[in-house]
Amino acid sequence: MKEIKVSDYAGIIMEALRKGILLTSKADDKVNSMVIGWGTFGINWSKPVFAVYVREGRFTREQLDKNPEFTINVPLGDFDKNIIAVCGGKSGRDIDKVREAGLTLAEPQVVSVPAVKEFPLTLECKIIYRQKQELELLPQDIVERMYPQNVPSTNPMANRDPHVTYYGEIVAAYIAD
Ligand SMILES: Cc1cc2nc3c(=O)[nH]c(=O)nc-3n(C[C@H](O)[C@H](O)[C@H](O)COP(=O)(O)O)c2cc1C
Repeated sequence: MKEIKVSDYAGIIMEALRKGILLTSKADDKVNSMVIGWGTFGINWSKPVFAVYVREGRFTREQLDKNPEFTINVPLGDFDKNIIAVCGGKSGRDIDKVREAGLTLAEPQVVSVPAVKEFPLTLECKIIYRQKQELELLPQDIVERMYPQNVPSTNPMANRDPHVTYYGEIVAAYIAD
């Protein structure tokens, strides 16, 4: 485990988001990772914050509402693309994604949610604020592109339900080994 200064890795995290990184949660003893392509790193309330955007119908949303902590897991170098297929295409509501994707969990430092050795750049986050986005406040072209009404919210490809923004205070940052 090597501690890092997150700002030194901001570019790597931004680039990795284009292909997908993991958002891992844990509730009722179930660890679950979902792929995210949206994420924001910055300062809020004078704290270092990583914000994630989770559609309302996701299993991950239920997990975060039960236990307001998560880890962000970013690949460094090559990784098994099956991880993205499983964690971005299937729901933890139906399967054990940790087993199916072959993830190796690592003990966290501060929060209760583990790190993922295959995606070793780790941000441990505690949720300090959450807010459901209001589609009425978004430009119409974004609403039409991102929130068409044809896929129900129980489907992993759901696109009709709005996102909930979770603001996670970054309480530890390191490369897991
Ligand atoms: C590249 C990629 C990026 C994604 N980004 C997001 C995202 O930022 N927010 C979101 O709610 N879903 C996103 N998804 C969809 C979820 O990963 C997918 O619905 C997943 O099955 C949800 O898992 P869960 O039901 O176990 O929470 C993305 C999927 C892929 C493949």
